[in-house]
Amino acid sequence: MEIIKIDKLIKRFPMGKSEFTALNNISLHFGKGEFTGIVGPSGSGKTTLLNIIGSLDSPSEGSARVLDQDIGKLTTKKAAILRRQHMGFIFQTYNLLPVYTVFENVEFPLLLLNMNVSERKKAVINALDWVGLTDKVKSRPAQLSGGECQRVAIARAMVKNPVLVLADEPTANLDSENSHHILQTMERLNKELQTTFIFATHDDKVIRYLKRKILLQDGKVTADDSIIK
Ligand SMILES: Nc1ncnc2c1ncn2[C@@H]1O[C@H](COP(=O)(O)OP(=O)(O)O)[C@@H](O)[C@H]1O
Ligand SMILES: [Mg+2]
Repeated sequence: MEIIKIDKLIKRFPMGKSEFTALNNISLHFGKGEFTGIVGPSGSGKTTLLNIIGSLDSPSEGSARVLDQDIGKLTTKKAAILRRQHMGFIFQTYNLLPVYTVFENVEFPLLLLNMNVSERKKAVINALDWVGLTDKVKSRPAQLSGGECQRVAIARAMVKNPVLVLADEPTANLDSENSHHILQTMERLNKELQTTFIFATHDDKVIRYLKRKILLQDGKVTADDSIIK
């Protein structure tokens, strides 16, 4: 089942008096349950593409359809609803709220959904169990290692059991052991829950786990390989 259809997508950013083309005529389809990396050197357009898929930005030309919604035509409010209901985000810098506990950080996306306290608690504990952190519910981010922070961020992205998780350079701040640990966790969630993962990365440790590798260079797709394991 296809959940993302990108057709002749062009993204330009204003640059002084002219424009810079960050994505140049991209056409790609993504199916449910993929574990796919958008790889390429810094500045090749990975984050820009991920942001458009995540409805955080919109195309200049062409189209991006995500979960049956036309990203370029969504109002700010409709885009927020799409993200809130169906997408999880993981960032290089974890983006945890420092004054909140691990439990509260993971619960946060659920506060916008129509769930009662006990349903929320169950979902949070379940998500922390997926990443092996149920013993840290009361800790705050400053008391955790980088690897643990990123596992909390994965739990936060997964807590509503989204169709799609977008991860931008998720291992950039992690050492090798923690990188493998979080990749193994996401690989397992992909297998068990069929969650679709799309990564932006140039980390070889991530690339090794991918089932599909899309190479971006200067805003163009120059390779798209399925990896048979
Ligand atoms: N908001 C923006 N305004 C202007 N230029 C941008 C903006 N976002 C990204 N760019 C430019 O687009 C290109 C691709 O950026 P990005 O998608 O962040 O690449 P990557 O994630 O592969 O490193 C870069 O040259 C970057 O400077
Ligand atoms: Mg980037």
